[in-house]
Amino acid sequence: MTRRVLALGYGAIAATAAAALLAAQHGLASVVQKLSALPALTLQMGFGGCVLALALAAGLAWFFIARGVQRAELAKLALLKARDDAIRAESEANEMAILFRDLNDDVTRLNIELAGKMRQLGEAQEDILRKGKMAQLGALITTVGHELRNPMAGVRTTLFAMRRKFKSTSLDLDSYLNRIDGGITRCDLIITKLLDFAYEKEPDLAPGDVDGWLAGVIEEEAKSLPEQICIECELGLDGLVTGFDRARMRRVIHNLLSNAADALWGLHAPVRDDPCIRVTTSLAARGVEISIADNGPGISAEVMVKVREPLFTTKEFATGLGIPSTEKILALHGGGLDIESAPNKGATFTAWFPLSRAVLQAA
Ligand SMILES: Nc1ncnc2c1ncn2[C@@H]1O[C@H](COP(=O)(O)OP(=O)(O)OP(=O)(O)O)[C@@H](O)[C@H]1O
Ligand SMILES: [Mg+2]
Repeated sequence: MTRRVLALGYGAIAATAAAALLAAQHGLASVVQKLSALPALTLQMGFGGCVLALALAAGLAWFFIARGVQRAELAKLALLKARDDAIRAESEANEMAILFRDLNDDVTRLNIELAGKMRQLGEAQEDILRKGKMAQLGALITTVGHELRNPMAGVRTTLFAMRRKFKSTSLDLDSYLNRIDGGITRCDLIITKLLDFAYEKEPDLAPGDVDGWLAGVIEEEAKSLPEQICIECELGLDGLVTGFDRARMRRVIHNLLSNAADALWGLHAPVRDDPCIRVTTSLAARGVEISIADNGPGISAEVMVKVREPLFTTKEFATGLGIPSTEKILALHGGGLDIESAPNKGATFTAWFPLSRAVLQAA
């Protein structure tokens, strides 16, 4: 359409030009000749001039229309381009918005992670401080414990000598001497628990038949427990030999057995008719498990949360170091202590430690 209008326009312009040329030829010749006869020339040029003027007007009209159409077309093209640009800008803005949202999500996530890491760092710092203090406390306990053991050994030796000396006399000092002996034994036990709790020394691992060793320890320990308490054993390690520190592991068994016995036995009488302790051993993926279960009153929820804390006790004459020192010995063996209990359902303490490397390699 535009091209046709332009062609028509240019045709008109060409016609106008041709007419103008003819008129000019004719006019120029006549102008010179007939300048003197102007009125006659005016009459003679009247029709040609009109045609020329009309053609000129038409040409000009076509020229302006064509230019207008061309401008409108250009404006339309510019409008389309502007619309495309606007659409592109909008989609770019949308992409940017998505990008910003993702960025914002990332920043939020990073902030949360950072807060978590800061908390971990704070905890680690506290842990280091606590460990530092514990290490100092451990060194203090170890030194004091060993220093006390020497004079106590002296008292024990003197006591032994006094017993012998007074045996042959008529003086009955046995009750006094027994009280001194009981006091020394108790002090010794407290020092042992303190040292077990504070000791960082690696356990002295020696290979041993766990079930055989345990049977002997239970037999020995049972002698100091009220005889009304029955002790059942179900040892299932089938002669398994592994490395463990016998002396320290014996104290684990002692602590757990004495806790079970304390739970089953009041000051003078059992807390139930059929007090019983059940000892079982088994082999699990994590290693050797030794469970000591009693059918006593169990551990309430509020005691359970504190039961592993050093110096926590519900007993009148106790230090509250039995479980913490037990845990420490097991931890040094690479193991741990599980505690399960519910009120009136008894309590089960499971000590576990991994098999020694030699056993694992042989398997
Ligand atoms: N078998 C159990 N049944 C019920 N409560 C138990 C049992 N074993 C431990 N507890 C509870 O856990 C507390 C802490 O035990 P832990 O052996 O650490 O200290 P303790 O026996 O009180 O004192 P210590 O062992 O130093 O003489 C006990 O006072 C008791 O309340
Ligand atoms: Mg105890």
